[in-house]
Amino acid sequence: MVATEVKARPQPSGAERLDGDGLMLSGVSRTYSMREGGAVRALAGVSLDAAHGELLAVVGPSGCGKTTLLELICGLQAPDGGEISCAPAALMPQRDLLLPWLDAADNAALALRIAGLSRVRARSRASSLFAELGLEGFQNARPAQLSGGMRQRVAFLRTLLSGKTLLCLDEPFGALDAITRAEMQGWLADALRREPRTVVLVTHDVEEAVMLADRIAVLSTRPGRVIEQLEVSLARPRVRTDGAVVALREHALGILSLGTAATGDVERAGGERAARGEDPRA
Ligand SMILES: Nc1ncnc2c1ncn2[C@@H]1O[C@H](COP(=O)(O)OP(=O)(O)OP(=O)(O)O)[C@@H](O)[C@H]1O
Ligand SMILES: [Mg+2]
Repeated sequence: MVATEVKARPQPSGAERLDGDGLMLSGVSRTYSMREGGAVRALAGVSLDAAHGELLAVVGPSGCGKTTLLELICGLQAPDGGEISCAPAALMPQRDLLLPWLDAADNAALALRIAGLSRVRARSRASSLFAELGLEGFQNARPAQLSGGMRQRVAFLRTLLSGKTLLCLDEPFGALDAITRAEMQGWLADALRREPRTVVLVTHDVEEAVMLADRIAVLSTRPGRVIEQLEVSLARPRVRTDGAVVALREHALGILSLGTAATGDVERAGGERAARGEDPRA
């Protein structure tokens, strides 16, 4: 039992306090109109909040609107209904979207350059973190010369260096092998301890959510709704094999499978295709 660690959280009311650089979504909905008629309801009435410095993990089945949610928070698209209040946010997209003509250091330093730093200073600041992310020696490599996991780490660094206090990370460690993923999770936890930010972390990996989050929001199948929010009040650093971590992971997986029981393969495949930038209805 993890009764002391797991607390289902009620949905925040519209009047709930928004702390500093925190985040609040109230009744947010998003429906995509299809060119040839018809519509896809991605999100329906999503209410979530995160206080400054909190890490909110969002888990849910493929195609339930997680990427849509992050794009709404970052202002890349607008909701059809509901309200979003937050500080300007940086997005680490699900695909790395590095600029192919820039090398790894210039890609990582992009936000610093946009903020006005000279190329030398921006590269030097970004490069100083390359070793910690297992990228040492690849500063001058173009994205095409990097593995998928390395590109993902450069994109992750680019997001961290954005200077924004609200970070939206869309499956940041999804393309990494298990060992590197665990290292990166540890690195993120340390980085946030040193320099707290508000983070919305979308992940398919429930264990990752338990290891990193202050709270986990579980979404239903499309249209995504918040089925439940779990407070994770386990001490840090967390250990994967710790009984409370394992129990909470199983608890969250149970909620997720209940919420996705009605999902068909067609729906899942649609979300995966959309994530790859392909026609979800193909
Ligand atoms: N630009 C778009 N136009 C039309 N439909 C879209 C668009 N973007 C997403 N969708 C649809 O909205 C739904 C939610 O997509 P979204 O990418 O937000 O899901 P997701 O939860 O991030 O999925 P995954 O876990 O596979 O990444 C899907 O059914 C998808 O087909
Ligand atoms: Mg997605």
